[in-house]
Amino acid sequence: MQNIIDGFKKESIKLAVEVLEKGGLVIFPTETVYGLGASAFDPIAVARIFEIKRRPKFDPLIVHIWRMEDAEKLVSIFPKQAKLLGEKFWPGPLTIVLPKSDVVPDIVTSGLPTVGIRAPAHPVALELLRSASFPVAAPSANSFGYLSPTSVSHIESNIREKVNLILDGGQCRVGVESTIILFEEEKWFLLRPGGLPLEDIEKIVGKVESLPLTSKTLSPGRLPSHYAPKKPLFIFKKFEDVDRKKFKKIGILFFKKPDFEIEGIGDVEILSEKGDLREAASNLFSALHHLDRAECEVIFAEAVEEEGLGRAIMDRLKKASYKS
Ligand code: TXA
Ligand code: MG
Repeated sequence: MQNIIDGFKKESIKLAVEVLEKGGLVIFPTETVYGLGASAFDPIAVARIFEIKRRPKFDPLIVHIWRMEDAEKLVSIFPKQAKLLGEKFWPGPLTIVLPKSDVVPDIVTSGLPTVGIRAPAHPVALELLRSASFPVAAPSANSFGYLSPTSVSHIESNIREKVNLILDGGQCRVGVESTIILFEEEKWFLLRPGGLPLEDIEKIVGKVESLPLTSKTLSPGRLPSHYAPKKPLFIFKKFEDVDRKKFKKIGILFFKKPDFEIEGIGDVEILSEKGDLREAASNLFSALHHLDRAECEVIFAEAVEEEGLGRAIMDRLKKASYKS
C-alpha cells in the first residue's frame, strides 16, 4: 500500500505533521490501538473522521497530547487529582474527561462541555505530537462498532483508502483501548475499563464509581454493542458447555492453553499460554481479527476473571457478544 510508511523514521513524522497541518488525516500507532487522527483545532478535518468511520455525531473524540502543559490549555478546570493521575500515568493508557476550554471545537466533543484527554505511550505517537504545534483528535482507526486495529494489517481497506497517511509502528503493546474516567462533582467515574487497571487508579484517587447505564453522561464506548467482530460471539466458562453441534466449524478464543487436546476442534486462538492477563489483553483484538477472517462460522470466547486488565477484556467480549 502506497500510503503506509515507517513511523519510526524522522522524515515520516515530518510528512505526517505536514498532512495534519493541511487538514489531512493520519493513522498513527499508540500503545493501545491505532488512532485515526486530525488536528484537534481543525473542525473540518475532524468532521472527515466522523464521515470515514461512519461514526454517529454524538460520539466525542479523545484529544491526544504529549505533555501535561498541553492538557492545561484544553480544560477549564484541572483538579489536583487529575494532575496527580497525569503525572503518574501519562504517557499511558488513561483518558481523563474534564470540563473543556473554548479552544476545543465543539465537533471534537460532540457538543459536550467536557473533553477526554490522554498522552499515548508509543514513541511514534509521542514524536508526532511533540512535532505538531496542535493536539491530535483521534478515535480508534476502525469503522464504528467494529474491532479496533492493533496492527496496520487490521485496518479495514475502506478506511485505509480514505486517509492520507498511515504511520506503521508495529504491534500495539497494550492492545485494548485506554481506561476512561470522568471527574464530576468532586467524584471519579469509570466510563470504560481499559489498558490501565482500575486498581492502579484507585490507589491515587480512591474509589472510582461506575456510572449506571441509564446515566445521561454520554460515552458510546458504553453502548452495549460495540467492539464487535462480524461473526456471532458467545462467551463460555467451561469448554464442555460449548454447544458446537449446530456448526460446521467453530472458532475458539481460549484465555489460556487448555489442558486437553485441541487438534481438530476448530479455528483456535490462545490469548496467553500461561494465562497472563496483560499478555491476553495485548493479543485480544488480533485474535478476534484472525477468527473473524478464518473459516469458522461463530466464535466462542472463554471468560476471564474480572480484575485488573481482565475487566477490560470481559467488557470488550460482552459488548462483542451482545447481538448474538
Ligand atoms: O486507547 C484509546 O483510547 C484509543 C487510542 C487511539 O487513543 N482511542 C479510542 O477512541 O479508543 P474511541 O473514539 O474509539 O473511543 C473513545 C471513547 C468513546 O466511546 C467516547 O464516547 C469517549 O471515549 N469519550 C471521548 N470524549 C468523551 C467525553 N468528553 N465524555 C465522555 N466520553 C468521551
Ligand atoms: Mg473505538
